[in-house]
Amino acid sequence: MSSQLGTVVIGGGTGFIGTALGNTLKRRGYDVLVVSRKPGAYRMTWTELNNKGLPDATTAVVNVAGQNVLDPTRRWTEGFKQNVWASRVNTTRYLAEAIEKASVKPRVFVSMSGVGYYPPGKSEEFDESSPGGDFDFLSCLCTDWESAADLPQDLGVRTVKIRTGVVLGRQGGMIQQLIVPFFLGLGGPVGSGDQPMPWIHIHDITGLYVHAIENENVTGVVNGVAPQIITNRDFAKAFGQALWRPSFIPLPTFAVNFMFSEERAKIMTEGQKVVPKKALNTGYVFQYPNISEAAKEFSRIIYADEIST
Ligand SMILES: NC(=O)c1ccc[n+]([C@@H]2O[C@H](COP(=O)([O-])OP(=O)(O)OC[C@H]3O[C@@H](n4cnc5c(N)ncnc54)[C@H](OP(=O)(O)O)[C@@H]3O)[C@@H](O)[C@H]2O)c1
Repeated sequence: MSSQLGTVVIGGGTGFIGTALGNTLKRRGYDVLVVSRKPGAYRMTWTELNNKGLPDATTAVVNVAGQNVLDPTRRWTEGFKQNVWASRVNTTRYLAEAIEKASVKPRVFVSMSGVGYYPPGKSEEFDESSPGGDFDFLSCLCTDWESAADLPQDLGVRTVKIRTGVVLGRQGGMIQQLIVPFFLGLGGPVGSGDQPMPWIHIHDITGLYVHAIENENVTGVVNGVAPQIITNRDFAKAFGQALWRPSFIPLPTFAVNFMFSEERAKIMTEGQKVVPKKALNTGYVFQYPNISEAAKEFSRIIYADEIST
């Protein structure tokens, strides 16, 4: 039997964020259909999306697809950068085109973007009206990614673009890569550790997507970050404390630059102070507004997370 709330179509719904979001939406009573490069149950491929379009029951479309920028096995070549760009911009455009062609329109299109839109720095704080998006590869990528989600005004489909910080959760992203070294007491800040680290707990990024889907007053750009502004050192300290481990062995900037190449290593060696002004103004209540509570959640030794599993 199909859901009364309708279907949410999620591009990239097989990944860390997409899986958690799909499970949250299913628990709320939505049907979920994932768009993936690989066929499977409750999935359609990007080619099928282009050929068949969206199901008539689609009430919301979400895109969280994107090649992992920090894949340590991939060199930062022009080819890989092209792949990073296309996996975000083209997938967003395919979904936007499917919405334009749909005979029954969804109510809302929620698309991912990144806080890399804003320039790095230790003093200025950025809200959704702050300038950016034009100074390096990652910031220009955010501009193109967001533009790809634009729909003609007369279509009547609300559009939301979530500029997301580092998503912290046990099942993927940065924590999955860092939990072993931190558990062994080998963790610590990156470089000086003074750089801001815009972050959000996985339960809050999924919560913010649901907030965007369900609330008509949420439109345009929304910063997907926790209200507490922290540095990379604050993060390392909170993670170490939650695991009852020391966390003061720094990872030198030159090593990160060597491993990832300077242009993408900036995601770790530099950061922005970003505030979730619109999320708070539209009534979103964060489950994990501060890093120490968030770290306790994703550092539990025996981990069973009802959202991500
Ligand atoms: N995790 C974070 O901290 C974070 C922070 C800010 C922004 N983001 C952004 O959020 C999105 C999802 O992040 P995530 O952590 O959930 O990533 P993830 O676990 O790597 O999942 C990404 C999904 O995107 C799809 N994908 C990967 N490469 C693709 C390609 N070349 N073409 C088309 N689809 C591709 C994959 O789906 P299939 O294999 O099923 O096709 C995959 O399930 C990404 O765009 C990422 O940049 C993540």
